[in-house]
Amino acid sequence: MPSTRSRVFSLLARSILAASVGVALCGANLSAQEKKPPTKLPPGLFEYKGREIAQTMHFAGAPWLTRDSRDREEDCNTLLKALKLQPGMTICDMGCGNGFYTLRVAKQIGPTGKVLAVDIQPEMLTLLRERAAAEKVKNVQPILGSVIDPELPEASCDLILCVDVYHEFSHPEHMLKAMRTALKPDGKLVLVEFRMEDHRVPIKIEHKMSKEQILKELPPNGFKLVEQFDGLPWQHVMWFGRDDANVEKK
Ligand SMILES: C[S@@+](CC[C@H](N)C(=O)[O-])C[C@H]1O[C@@H](n2cnc3c(N)ncnc32)[C@H](O)[C@@H]1O
Repeated sequence: MPSTRSRVFSLLARSILAASVGVALCGANLSAQEKKPPTKLPPGLFEYKGREIAQTMHFAGAPWLTRDSRDREEDCNTLLKALKLQPGMTICDMGCGNGFYTLRVAKQIGPTGKVLAVDIQPEMLTLLRERAAAEKVKNVQPILGSVIDPELPEASCDLILCVDVYHEFSHPEHMLKAMRTALKPDGKLVLVEFRMEDHRVPIKIEHKMSKEQILKELPPNGFKLVEQFDGLPWQHVMWFGRDDANVEKK
């Protein structure tokens, strides 16, 4: 459970992030969607079902996401194979950051497919746009989401990919509801999370999740586990389908 000091620090850091997002929104080169005035948000959570929620990774740390050692450390090609992507699919890369997975997924699904790349930090989307332009990848639509709403069209996604992001959601129930609605009836949400159960995974504890914790959080929010893959060096991979009939009454 977080201490009072870390809560105060966390609140301060979130305010600074919210302010920097606001300042960036005043800048040039933003889409009409990114220039929209901010909506009033409910306060973020610090813990959810006994888990401390991690700080949002700041855009200044983006180079870590595209570090040379990532492929070796996380075996990203094996993850991409396990996702069984098909040409023409609509994939959401939720919390896309600077687009490490966005561009690879976009290339695999080809020009008939589309990646909806969502992030809450406009600076991450700017980095993504630069990388997409440099690699001549055109089937990517960057979307500036808010912490409660990824702004995805209803029933539009075959797959919503959350790599190293779910544990950062400050409003997990809002995000889960929005993602459930954005999935096609047979669409899947896939969580890729650093394994809490494995002390050799060199990641801060609040950025890790156990399978037990994931299963405490997703099913009460209308998701059923449909598949798992345990072949990555550091991460769990868990696919969930829509389970609209089983949403916990609040
Ligand atoms: C650790 S980074 C992972 C980036 C990317 N998925 C990757 O693996 O390279 C987490 C990202 O999630 C984003 N994020 C956090 N909360 C979010 C939310 N509610 N909606 C969308 N993105 C969010 C952060 O801004 C950050 O860019």
